[in-house]
Order: sequence, then structure tokens, then C-alpha cells
Amino acid sequence: MERMPVVGVVGVTGAVGQEMLRVLSERRFPMRGLRVFASSRSAGKRVGYSGGEVEVEELKKGVFKGIDIVLFSAGGGTSREYAPDAVSSGCVVIDNSSAFRMESTVPLVVPEINGSDVRWHEGIIANPNCSTIISLMALAPLHREYGLKRVIASTYQAVSGTGAMAIEELRRQVEQISRGEEVTREVYPHQIAFNVMPHVDSFLDTGYTKEEMKMQNEGRKILHHDRLMVSCTCVRVPVYRAHSISVSAEFQEEIDVAGARQMIENFPGIQVKDDPGRNEYPMPLEVAGENDCYVGRIRKDLALENGLSFWVVGDQLLKGAALNAVQIAELLVEG
Ligand code: A2P
Repeated sequence: MERMPVVGVVGVTGAVGQEMLRVLSERRFPMRGLRVFASSRSAGKRVGYSGGEVEVEELKKGVFKGIDIVLFSAGGGTSREYAPDAVSSGCVVIDNSSAFRMESTVPLVVPEINGSDVRWHEGIIANPNCSTIISLMALAPLHREYGLKRVIASTYQAVSGTGAMAIEELRRQVEQISRGEEVTREVYPHQIAFNVMPHVDSFLDTGYTKEEMKMQNEGRKILHHDRLMVSCTCVRVPVYRAHSISVSAEFQEEIDVAGARQMIENFPGIQVKDDPGRNEYPMPLEVAGENDCYVGRIRKDLALENGLSFWVVGDQLLKGAALNAVQIAELLVEG
């Protein structure tokens, strides 16, 4: 890979796309050039980058010539349609959608956990699901030491995970309620302001949603652990930014709480904030905008054998999406 690549961002006007630009700039990602794309609606707009501005180009077939690495975050349909074109133009695609994650030729990478998997890519590398990344940041160091068997998890997912339109929907509904007006909705099937909705992504015949299956399916691929069992309930909450996950995990080996805490503390990209006596535990309001994930409420699980329960929070636009994608790009450049 070129050490000073030309970088592309597809979906640059979106919630994750905007963060991708900010993270690239903040981490001083080495590049010779930057090209940014969105739909025809945004073509010609200018977006800020590193103190300057870049003009948004319309995404079309053939636009990728001369680009070395392109980050996609414009939904699965756009990735399916345009990522193969980018690959045939010689780009390496880092795709934030779920379109290619489970394909056998596509590495699914969290750099701190399975960074070496980038080596076997054939043009596309997938960025995992946001709640999966955040949960695995805490589970991976424990798995290495104690051998993970099964996970029971509930997510508390922020609206920005749905995109810019959903951030606007929550803001508008809060204003409508405070003015005593009728609440309108466009994005979610129910009012999200002052509510919680046990529904993220579409339902399968099993009664689980697609989002709920990602933690098991993607978790197995990232941890190289085919027998991992996960039962997950995904919930949308009226939080603008940062996902929280309540995790109970069962391990092969007997687990001691102090040792588990140490394993998590020693792992890069995750911090322990756990002092219940002082009301200290991670919450989305504080974790929003942070690169690291935070774990608290670490305790022995009372219902599982060799079990541990904890609460983990991460900014899903950063470690759950843009930051993880840029870290993958960094691995490519470092070679
Ligand atoms: P645009 O702003 O021009 O619609 P979010 O997930 O926050 O809703 O953002 C989605 C991103 O994906 C936006 O940048 C959006 O661009 C882009 N996008 C959506 N559909 C397409 C498409 N068909 N072609 C290119 N970009 C798209």
C-alpha cells in the first residue's frame, strides 16, 4: 500500500462520514489527497477538513480512479452497488455497512483484537457492527484469559446510529412535546422522545432482529471463535450519541473479578470507570466524543457459571464506526 495514499470518503455528509473526516484530520492521517462523495443532492456542497474545505462530488461509477483507500458509510445498498467498482479501480475499500461483513473473502476487523486479519483482504475490509465492536472491546481481553462461552446482552443504542435524520427526529420531537404540539415521526415506527423501543433493524422469523444476530455472527468471525453463543436484545433509546451495552458473559475458566478488571484495564482502547460507592460508572453523556470505550459495574454474575456481568459504553460514531475504520486504514498504510 502507498505510504501517502489518496483517500476517499463515501457518505461524507452523513453522521459517520462527518466523523470520518474529523478523525482523519485529528489523527493526521498521512495522505496525498482527499476526495469526498455523497448523493447528487449534496454534489457541489463544501465540507470542512483540517481547517480548509473540500467539495463534495456526486458518487458515480468510475469516480474512484487514482484513489488508494476509500471509506464507505452510505448504507448497504450504496456499498453493494459501488464498492466493487472501487475495487476494480484499484482501491482498498473499508466498508462500514453490513453488506460484506460475513463474506469469507472479506476480513472483519477491530484493530486491537484481530488487526492481522487485514493482511488477507482481496480489496474489501469490513468495519463491524457498532454494538459488536464496543462489546468485544471488553470481551476480547477476557476471552484470551478465560475462554468465552456465551454472552447475554442488552443494548441501549443512541439515535445517531440510525443517521443524521434520526438525530433530527429526536430533537424535533423533544421540541414538539415541550411546546405541547402533536409529535410527528418520519424515521422510527414509534415516538422515540421519552420512550425506549425494543427494535433495531428488521425482524427475522426467529423473533430476533438482524442487529441482534450481528453480535453472535460477527463476534465469532472477529474472535475466531465459531462456537460462541450470543443472545442479544437491541433497544433504541432517546440518547443522541454513544451506545451502552449490559453484558453477562460465561467463561470456560473460573473468573475472578479483580483479574478480569485488570485484563480490561491493560487492553488498549478501553478504560475502566467503576466506583459504585462514588456513583461512578460510564454513561453516554460523558462517553460521547471519546475515542476509548469505558467499562463499569464489573461484578460476578449470579446466574451463570464462571460468569461476569458489566456495563460498557462507547461512542458508536467513533470506535463503533469512523475511528475503527480509520484505524484499519492506518494498518494498511503501516503495512
Ligand atoms: P446525502 O447527504 O447526499 O443524501 P446518514 O447515515 O447520516 O443518513 O448519511 C448517509 C450518507 O450516505 C449521506 O452522506 C448521504 O448523502 C449518503 N448517501 C445516501 N444514499 C446515497 C447514494 N445513493 N449515493 C451516494 N451517497 C448516498
